[in-house]
Amino acid sequence: MKVEELLKPFPIKEFHPFPRAMMGPGAWELVGPEALKLGFRTVLVMTSGLRGSDTVEKIVGSLKYHGLEVVLYDQVESNPKDYNVMDAVALYQENKCDSFISLGGGSSHDACKGARISVAHDGRSVNEFEGFNKSENPKNPPHIAISTTAGTGSETSWAYVITDTTTNPDQPHKYVAFDDASVATLAVDDPTLYYDCPIDYTAQCGFDVLAHASEPYVSRLNFQPSLGNALHAIRLTAAHLREATWNPQELAGREGMMYAQYIAAQAFNSGGLGIIHSISHAVSAFYDTHHGLNNAIALPRVWAFNMPVAYQRFADIAVAMGVDTHGMTAVQAADAALAAAIRLLRDVGIPEKFTDVKQDTYSKNRLGKGPTAFYERSPEIIGDARDVDRLTSHVLGDACTPGNAKECTFETVRPVVDHCLNGDLDDLLA
Ligand SMILES: [Fe+2]
Repeated sequence: MKVEELLKPFPIKEFHPFPRAMMGPGAWELVGPEALKLGFRTVLVMTSGLRGSDTVEKIVGSLKYHGLEVVLYDQVESNPKDYNVMDAVALYQENKCDSFISLGGGSSHDACKGARISVAHDGRSVNEFEGFNKSENPKNPPHIAISTTAGTGSETSWAYVITDTTTNPDQPHKYVAFDDASVATLAVDDPTLYYDCPIDYTAQCGFDVLAHASEPYVSRLNFQPSLGNALHAIRLTAAHLREATWNPQELAGREGMMYAQYIAAQAFNSGGLGIIHSISHAVSAFYDTHHGLNNAIALPRVWAFNMPVAYQRFADIAVAMGVDTHGMTAVQAADAALAAAIRLLRDVGIPEKFTDVKQDTYSKNRLGKGPTAFYERSPEIIGDARDVDRLTSHVLGDACTPGNAKECTFETVRPVVDHCLNGDLDDLLA
């Protein structure tokens, strides 16, 4: 996909719809009755398994209590791979299922969206639907998306992200598909389901929210209906992420981040993303590291990169992050926004550059884990010139890149990628 091809439609803004949503503590108990109302009989539940919690048992038990037949696919990997999607499609077809439930974070929701699109096209490979509105059949099976993290927003967005492992095995390709046909039928955001989200994942997912909110706020799409949501999601993240991370059983922090993730996703849904996400996708493609972690490391560098074309917007972000900007120029306030983001990153314990991320750096690490040979051969993040080059090339082909605030070329983006891998955050502080 060529970036130039994607730029053409930008003068025309398009609003992409959201699904119905059930939100708040206890919302998960409505899933069984809502599934029955939607006509579910035999449902494929897609999840990573959420091992270490009883959430899958709890939800599946409730569905069975309400008389639903449940088929379980609990092998969705972080950064879901095409084979996860196609294994689930085979299970769906074998068991003559009529509906889907995804339970988890973005990986489970995204894999489920891809599976629905594939099912609606007689099991064609999910990779055939990369791009914008590639689905030819809008009638795919109904889907309830239940979130157990506060980051993705996939339960309410038209985006899903899949890693294509079928192309050149040495050049893995992680892509975003934006498709109105992939939007879930019902989103369920219950903050009590986030209580089991590990501390480091909570922090990392929170930076996915900050990326989802800040990228549309400065995007070249400049989609006015997204701007209020973007700022409010930044406000909520700045107010609640520390508590959600360090006091995880406290409802206020979890609920604040639940709304932040939901609202931020509604901002980017039509307002676009940028190269925080493109860099994140590239690093996941080559190293299988967590999306939120990648966003967190990329965010300060990309804010600094974009700042010269959007000082006033970053000054607004500073206010949303709680900075007192009275007496500051827009440039000073923008610098203060960046300092506040770095402070938040440090406060919630996120590594400061990619080469600091090792196999024991976070709880659900996938560095060097496979299962494909490529990922087995990638046990650590290299960060040399060749690595920077291949990541930069991936960034430039990403569907999020055209929306970035500043025009992107290989020459301008390469130093940003290099800094994400090897630079010190203190370099960015004025
Ligand atoms: Fe994201």
